[in-house]
Amino acid sequence: MTASLRRLARPQLWPAVGAVLLTLVATGFGLAQPLVAAGLVDTVSRGGSVAGPAFVLAGLFVAQACVGAWGYFLLERTGERFLLRVRTTLCSHLVRIVLPVFDRHRIGDFISRASADVVALRDGLTNTVVQTVTSVIIAVATAVVMAFIDPVLMVMVVGVLAVSSVVLGAMSSRIGDASVSLHTTVGTLSAELERVLGAIRTVRVNRAEDREVAAMTGLAQDGYRAGVRTARLVAAIGPLSEIAMNGAFLLVLFVGASRVASGDLSLGSLVALLLYANQLVMPIGTAVDGIAEIYKIKGPARRIREVLDLPVEQPGDPQPPAPSQSAPVLEIRDVRFGYEPHTPVLRGLSLTVPQRSLVALVGASGAGKSTTFALVDRLYEPWSGTIRLNGHDTTDLGLAATRARIGWVEQDTPVLHGTLRDNLRYAVPDASDPDLWDVLDLVNLHAKIRALPSGLDTEVGERGVRLSGGERQRVAIARAILAKPDLILLDEPTAHLDPANETALTRTMADLRHECSLLVIAHRMSTIRSADRIAVLRDGVVQATGTYTDLLRTNSEFTRIVGGSATPRPPAHPATTPP
Ligand SMILES: Nc1ncnc2c1ncn2[C@@H]1O[C@H](COP(=O)(O)OP(=O)(O)O)[C@@H](O)[C@H]1O
Ligand SMILES: [Mg+2]
Repeated sequence: MTASLRRLARPQLWPAVGAVLLTLVATGFGLAQPLVAAGLVDTVSRGGSVAGPAFVLAGLFVAQACVGAWGYFLLERTGERFLLRVRTTLCSHLVRIVLPVFDRHRIGDFISRASADVVALRDGLTNTVVQTVTSVIIAVATAVVMAFIDPVLMVMVVGVLAVSSVVLGAMSSRIGDASVSLHTTVGTLSAELERVLGAIRTVRVNRAEDREVAAMTGLAQDGYRAGVRTARLVAAIGPLSEIAMNGAFLLVLFVGASRVASGDLSLGSLVALLLYANQLVMPIGTAVDGIAEIYKIKGPARRIREVLDLPVEQPGDPQPPAPSQSAPVLEIRDVRFGYEPHTPVLRGLSLTVPQRSLVALVGASGAGKSTTFALVDRLYEPWSGTIRLNGHDTTDLGLAATRARIGWVEQDTPVLHGTLRDNLRYAVPDASDPDLWDVLDLVNLHAKIRALPSGLDTEVGERGVRLSGGERQRVAIARAILAKPDLILLDEPTAHLDPANETALTRTMADLRHECSLLVIAHRMSTIRSADRIAVLRDGVVQATGTYTDLLRTNSEFTRIVGGSATPRPPAHPATTPP
C-alpha cells in the first residue's frame, strides 16, 4: 500500500488490532481445550470424576464462541468503516480531478474503480490481511503449546507444514499478476458499457448492436481467462495444502501411537496432540489461502491509488472581493493555451467585455471559442497571459469565487438527471419556486412548464432526454440566470431554437444586459446584430473587434461567417430526379 491508501487505513488500525486481540483470546480458550481434554482422559483412565473437567471444557467452548463472535463483528465493522472512507474519498477526489487529466481517462473505468475495486480492497484487507495475521499467530501459539507436550512431534509437524507453505507461497505470488489483469479488464468493460449505453440511440441508428456486443464479449472473455488463471492457481493450492495438513495429522497419529506404546507419552497427551494438530490445520490453511488472497489486493489497490494520485482542483476562498466598478467584467490579455503541448489553440487571445454589455464571439468551427469559455471558467489553466474578472486576476480569486460570478451555458446537453426544479436550482439550491417561474418566463418556458401535469416536478430523464434540444438549452439558460452572475457565457444558445424562440431569446439577452454582461458565441444573425460589440476569432487570436456594420465593411472573415448564415446556400449536390 502507498501513502495515500495507508492514510485512509490508519484510523482503522487500532480497531483492527482490537479485533485481532479478541480473536487471539478466543483462540486461547480454544487452545486450552485439548489440555483440559487430556486431563479429562487421564483422570477417567485413573477412575476419577468427569464432572469438574467437563464443566471447565463447556465453559471454554462458550467463552471461545462469544469472544470469537465479538472479534468477528469488530473486524467486519472496521472493514465497513474503511470501505466508507475509501469510497467517500474516492468520490470526492473523482469529481475534483483537474480537467486536462480527467479528459485522458474513461468515465466507466473510474466508476469501476470506485465500486468493484473498492469492495475487493476492503475484502482483501479485512478478511485476508487480518485473518492471515491472526492465523499465523494462532499457528505459532499452537506450535508452542505442542512443543511443551512433545517437542519432537511438534518439530516434525511444523516441518511438514512449513515446507508446504513455502511451495504454496511461491505459487500464490502469480495470483497477483492475474488479479491486476482481471481488474483492468473489468474497468475497461465498464468504460465500454458506459460509452455504449450513453449513446444508445446512436448505437441503434447505426445498427451497431452486434459489433458493440462482440467487442464487449471480447473483453468479458479476457476477464474470464484472468479469472480462470486465478482459479487454476487457487485450485492447485487447495489440495496441496490439504495433503500437507492431513500428512501432518497422520504423522502425529503414527509417531504418537508408537511413543505411547513405548511409554514416552501418556494417552491423554496423544489425544491433546491430535486435537492440536487438528487445530493447526485451520489457521495454517487460512494463512496459506490468505497469502494467496493478499496478492489479489494488488490489482484493486493499484487502481485506487492511481486515482488518488491524480491532481485535483483547489477551490480556494469562495468569497470574492468587492468588484471594482470601473473595471470591465472580463478582460482577457494575451492568453496562450492548447490541449496538447506544442499545439496551441489560442495564440495570444485578448478580449474585453465591458460592464452591462453583450459581446458576441464569432469564428469558424474549431477556432477555439468554447475553449475560451473553458479558460474563463478556469477548467483549464492558460499557458500564459491573464484573465481578469471585475478587475481581479482569476488566479488570485480562486476557482470557487471565479465560478460563483460566472454563469456558463455549455454547447450541448447541459441538463442532469432529476426534476426540472432540481435542474434549475443546481447553482442556487435554496431558490424559491416564484424565482424559478420568473427565470422560466425570461426564457419563454413558463407556459410550457405550467401546462405539464407535474410542472416543476417533471423528471427530465437521463441527460435530459425527455426535453427537446431547444427546451434543454432554455432550461440551462434559466439555470444560469437564476444565480444572478456578473457575466453569462452562452455557447451557441440559439443553435437548437426555432425562429420564434430565437427572437424571444434575443430579446431576453437584450433585457439581461441591464443586470449583467453577456459573452455569446453566436452564428445566428439575430444574436450577432443585437450585440454591442463583436469579436472575430481566427487563428487563435481576436482578429478584429467592432460593431456589426463596422465589421461588415472592414473584415472579410466576418463577412464570410455572417454571409454563410444570412443567405442560405443551395445544396452542394442537386437532388437527382428518380427515373
Ligand atoms: N478537451 C479537449 N481536448 C483536446 N482538444 C480539444 C478539446 N476541446 C477542444 N479541443 C480542440 O480544440 C480546438 C478548438 O475547439 P473549440 O474551442 O471547441 O472550438 P469552437 O470554436 O468550435 O468552439 C479544436 O481543434 C478541438 O478539436
Ligand atoms: Mg464550440
